[in-house]
Amino acid sequence: MTPKKHILVTGGAGFIGSNFIHYILKKEPDIFVINLDALTYAANLDNLKNLPDPTRYVFIHGNICDQDLVFDLIKTYKISVIINFAAESHVDRSIYGPAQFIQTNIVGTFNLLEAAKKAWLEEKILPLSEVRFHHISTDEVYGSLGPEDPPFSEDTPYKPNSPYAASKAASDHLVRAYFKTYGLPVSITNCSNNYGPYQFPEKLIPLTILNAINGRPIPIYGDGKQIRDWLYVEDHCEAIWLVINQGKPGSTYNIGGGNQPFNIELVKKICSILDDLLPYSKYKPYEQLLTYVSDRPGHDRRYAMNIEKIKKELSWEPKENFHSGLEKTVKWYLENQDWIKGIISRPEYRAWIEKNYNKR
Ligand code: NAD
Ligand code: DAU
Repeated sequence: MTPKKHILVTGGAGFIGSNFIHYILKKEPDIFVINLDALTYAANLDNLKNLPDPTRYVFIHGNICDQDLVFDLIKTYKISVIINFAAESHVDRSIYGPAQFIQTNIVGTFNLLEAAKKAWLEEKILPLSEVRFHHISTDEVYGSLGPEDPPFSEDTPYKPNSPYAASKAASDHLVRAYFKTYGLPVSITNCSNNYGPYQFPEKLIPLTILNAINGRPIPIYGDGKQIRDWLYVEDHCEAIWLVINQGKPGSTYNIGGGNQPFNIELVKKICSILDDLLPYSKYKPYEQLLTYVSDRPGHDRRYAMNIEKIKKELSWEPKENFHSGLEKTVKWYLENQDWIKGIISRPEYRAWIEKNYNKR
């Protein structure tokens, strides 16, 4: 069958983007995916091995800041949907080096918007009713909650605390402005912490698994009493596709998993899953590896998402149960040691781990 719809996924070699490509090729037989990725340290083309139907997929090595390239892609492939996952995504790295976050997250999003505006609004390559620019954002734009505060809703004022969060907030504002000013059909989803396969092991869950199985200290920032709202990545992919197809142009939807343990509880849960899965390990009980280290500067205390809007308007809610989702995730990392080795053997990865943890 000839694919009917061409979609541009940016950052599709990263964690959520690659999960989305797997999800969409499996779910939608009429979709052809163009994956534009600059292949930064966070990318991994191994994430895209074993795609459900590789004949409906093409990889383009390039940067979202390259407006001419993006415009050519939209025109050449008659792209009707752009989903912007591409970003610098790690809060700790944004503290050491914010410049790249400004470049990719703000300037990159601006260039994508300009290319889409030129192709869809000026050259009118497709009917406006058929196109959508979808931007992937984060709960971090809303700032930090106190213990008694209600969860973030779509109307919560933006109050980003890290350079990463501030750069995502700026990109959200640009996307919204292109709807209000030019009428570009856009949507935005602000999502909580994702977990699942293919997540780069600089983030808490894969880092915990990796350090545990290698008998290395598991770093807990500050008192470990911070709270994140954990969502299984496939549930996120489902919500994104629903918003693109059924969400109102110009709208924002919050997405969350409703699982809100303290960091320390989460890490202990992972240790106990590993105790069960690897009962003969010399590092068992894995909890003995927990190590408190100095806190992240400006560390947000608590995130929680109010997902009533997407529930009510689009009948979406997360399907994965937290315990089974975590167990599946731990098993995936144990069964994909080659994937992990491919990353940890990179000198750049080892340099980052030294830089971030050696002096804490
Ligand atoms: P990631 O860091 O795993 O992957 C980012 C990808 O973008 C990489 O493949 C990288 O090569 C690519 N990229 C970076 N700069 C680029 C550029 N200038 N041009 C083209 N490609 C570029 O990120 P992720 O965790 O998959 O996050 C994806 C998106 O979701 C980001 O926008 C992030 O802000 C957002 N988000 C992530 C989470 C989460 O828990 N991971 C939660 C909420 C929102
Ligand atoms: O909330 C959504 C955000 O979730 C996304 O926008 C970001 O792209 C994504 O990276 C993630 O940000 P966090 O900072 O919440 O994720 P991270 O995995 O880095 O950290 C999760 C929590 O664990 C946070 O409170 C910091 C803490 N932590 C993290 C690391 C890496 C530790 O205690 N030790 C660690 O070594």
